[in-house]
Amino acid sequence: MRNGQLLAAAEEERFRRIKHWAGFPSQAIGYCLKEAKIDLSDVTHVAVNRSGRANLLRKLRYVAFKRPNLRLLLNRWRNHKQVMQIDDELRALPGRPYRGTIEYIEHHLAHLASAFYPSPFREAAVVSVDGFGDFASAAWGRGRGTSLSLDGRVLFPHSLGIFYQAMTQYLGFPHYGDEYKLMGLAAYGNSSCRQEVEKLLSLKNDGTFALDLKYFRHHKEDIAYEWHGGEPVCGPLFSQALIEALGPPREPDAPIEDRHRNLAFATQAVYEDSFFHLLNALHRRDGHTAIALAGGCAYNSVANGKIKDRTGFTQCYLQAAAGDAGGAIGAAYAVWHRSGARTPEMTHAFWGPSFSDAELAALLEERRTDIETEACRVQTLADEKELVGTAARAIAAGQVVGWFQGRMEWGPRALGDRSILGDPRRADMKNILNLKIKRRESFRPFAPSILREAVADWFVRSDDVPFMLQVIPIRPERRGQIPAVTHVDGTGRLQTVDRASNSRYYALIEAFFRLTGVPMVLNTSFNENEPVVCRPEEALDCFLRTKMDVLVLGNHLVRRTAQAKAETPI
Ligand SMILES: [Fe+2]
Repeated sequence: MRNGQLLAAAEEERFRRIKHWAGFPSQAIGYCLKEAKIDLSDVTHVAVNRSGRANLLRKLRYVAFKRPNLRLLLNRWRNHKQVMQIDDELRALPGRPYRGTIEYIEHHLAHLASAFYPSPFREAAVVSVDGFGDFASAAWGRGRGTSLSLDGRVLFPHSLGIFYQAMTQYLGFPHYGDEYKLMGLAAYGNSSCRQEVEKLLSLKNDGTFALDLKYFRHHKEDIAYEWHGGEPVCGPLFSQALIEALGPPREPDAPIEDRHRNLAFATQAVYEDSFFHLLNALHRRDGHTAIALAGGCAYNSVANGKIKDRTGFTQCYLQAAAGDAGGAIGAAYAVWHRSGARTPEMTHAFWGPSFSDAELAALLEERRTDIETEACRVQTLADEKELVGTAARAIAAGQVVGWFQGRMEWGPRALGDRSILGDPRRADMKNILNLKIKRRESFRPFAPSILREAVADWFVRSDDVPFMLQVIPIRPERRGQIPAVTHVDGTGRLQTVDRASNSRYYALIEAFFRLTGVPMVLNTSFNENEPVVCRPEEALDCFLRTKMDVLVLGNHLVRRTAQAKAETPI
């Protein structure tokens, strides 16, 4: 960030090619410096979204009175130290040494800052909900102009994020970040297990919540927990008491049964009740109509889509990287706003690396043999109209198109620069994508990117959802027209696309609209069981090893010929 303007933001996982990679982000730092055309010695502040001092008294009181397991304490302390001692790692970076300050910002204050400061609101309620960070799992405050207060917290060991993650693990999805699988599965269930899951937590009069701790392990046992130098690992969070109450957990490879679907439904329902209980208490307190949200739980796009129906808030903003990655820019925003000047609204997510046309052309030349071996043909279309027209025709013909353009997205969603696109009208598109590339669980929905002006025609509300973080019901009469992006409950996790934020992607969807009368395309992230592609080499490799039909790299089209398709039918 320079003079309050965000210059670059990218997650380390994209460079390391390991999903959710946790640890010192040296490659992302290298990229940001390159993008800003500066050296580390030019930087004046490094901000970190953790603070050893935050909630220190409460931590000490907890240790004194609850006497938790010593190994648990030591492991937590070790993890904490790795995040807090970054001086050595900064010094080890290439180039002239860092001479500025290191600012440690409380985890949830960084979350709140990441939500409010990039929002369009002059005044808003600001809420953060996650697993844990600096001994708290939720926090809230008031944002006003350049000021932001942190007024309240839910402290360890109570956590909505832990509740959701424990149930995700129980249902056989053990990996870090698997919560969206439970969210997708929930739409297939009914409310028959609700009372069983309601026992796991209770709602308090002040708007907060408390876990029934006998069902959880995180507060008393040393759970395997690794958060450094690779994919994060977290051992089982649920206790034997939960197994006794709900029955044996589902093994990851076991079939999904109705009971699992119903438990997923109940988990989502109990989560929503607790989340809206908190939001309604905050609305009653201040009467704000706008809310800005962050924290890992802010990726619960199903709950986010219901905020307007179930609370008094009429406007909602979520920044593209609402989870912990967003804490990086949140910490930077918190430091910048001491200057008293407000930063501009974040209206798009394109803050990552980009590659010039010359670089793309050179890559295609260099890899010509690989491309020809796969019986693919390269074509360059410098005229944008021709380029988007050709890609739109391929999509309308049922082909799967890899779409690589401009700067990589910030946050977990591909939003039209590192996307794989398909025809939303085809009922078989989900299967085609899963067979050709994704091989993901059949219950997970695909999402539409829709022209901003067309939202009201296709969805029950005309909200602006630029970062794909809200799920909204599709108009019942439209659902049959776009089966590939209509979830089983009639909803869609839409991305609204406006011309100003991404003119080429807008032009592509517009071209598809002219061909088909449908103003949207199916958009899924450009990857195959790996982090979203960052560099064109990764996009080309993904294209060549999967059965994608077309790859658009900037102005260049790589197509599988009829011969290639005959050799590898899906
Ligand atoms: Fe967090």
